[in-house]
Amino acid sequence: MIEVSGLTKSFKSFKKEKGIKGTLKSLVSREYTSIDAVKDVSFNIKRGEIIGYIGANGAGKSTTIKMMTGILTPTEGYVNVDGRIPYEERTENARHIGVVFGQKTQLWWDLPLGETYSILKEIYEVPDDFYEEQMKYFDQVFELSTFMDKTVRTLSLGQRMRADLAASMLHNPQVLFLDEPTIGLDVVVKERIRKAIKDMNEKYGTTIVLTTHDMSDIEELCHRIIIIDKGTLLYDGGIDKIRKDYGFERKITFDLRYDSEDEVKESLSSIYQNIDNSTQKNLRFIVQDNQAIINFNRNEISISSIMNFVLHGFNVLDFSVQDMDIEAIVKQIYTK
Ligand SMILES: Nc1ncnc2c1ncn2[C@@H]1O[C@H](COP(=O)(O)OP(=O)(O)O)[C@@H](O)[C@H]1O
Ligand SMILES: [Mg+2]
Repeated sequence: MIEVSGLTKSFKSFKKEKGIKGTLKSLVSREYTSIDAVKDVSFNIKRGEIIGYIGANGAGKSTTIKMMTGILTPTEGYVNVDGRIPYEERTENARHIGVVFGQKTQLWWDLPLGETYSILKEIYEVPDDFYEEQMKYFDQVFELSTFMDKTVRTLSLGQRMRADLAASMLHNPQVLFLDEPTIGLDVVVKERIRKAIKDMNEKYGTTIVLTTHDMSDIEELCHRIIIIDKGTLLYDGGIDKIRKDYGFERKITFDLRYDSEDEVKESLSSIYQNIDNSTQKNLRFIVQDNQAIINFNRNEISISSIMNFVLHGFNVLDFSVQDMDIEAIVKQIYTK
């Protein structure tokens, strides 16, 4: 369905030395540097797959998506989406794909949302009955009708993202490119978005490329992930292997009240020294700014045992548990 081969995108930017002199110099000399946002990336995606395309900030995810959707032309390499080369057949390609950029709406800012969908219906030539069916479904999953009369500019982020997703799915595209569709949203809206993604994939066999920072998105939706780092492909394979090797990392942050940071550090260290070697390997902690942050492998150590000793040994005001994060996984892949 999607074929990406040797894909490279370099951005040129003018080199500028510091100060006024540098500015003047850059006006005449026009020296520029080039950065490879995406470097020799290759992968294939089969029809009906949901792929998590992940990496740290600035890794090159959006640039890849832009080349797959025809917004950018590669510097080198090749993309084929459902038999078309996106950047050469941009308009035709657009009829068959759906795109959401979480950071930026694709909708018309000043139009009431309802009108937006009527226009998209005409553009994509969506048959009446299918349009009815889709709108009914979107209302169920996204509760669109509660803000259908509002103009896009007045929507909240959560409403706007749901509206964008509905727009991307309206014409039942073969492929959906979703670039951070859950960024900045609360759990309830995230859950609705995940449901819609899952439904589309199950109902119509839609192929989905999903970029996200949220590991729960990945765990719920993807069997396969592609990790990109500094423009190059770092991993392409099952989520299970990543989960097994790195994915059980959890982080608990305790807000503590203490008089002496050194004392807390010391008592944590002495507990640490007394546990067995294999548990030590799976646990790291730091104490700073009235917080104790504990990283551990939840496969090896139970949350409850950690809670137990911290809650009993220290004056805990609050705590939170965070999922493994992508930056940490990328770092670990490098160190292994
Ligand atoms: N239009 C552009 N001009 C110059 N540099 C860019 C442009 N777009 C992206 N970049 C750079 O390319 C790299 C990859 O960016 P991007 O694909 O947006 O990363 P991601 O989506 O993974 O956060 C970054 O270093 C970014 O600054
Ligand atoms: Mg991005």
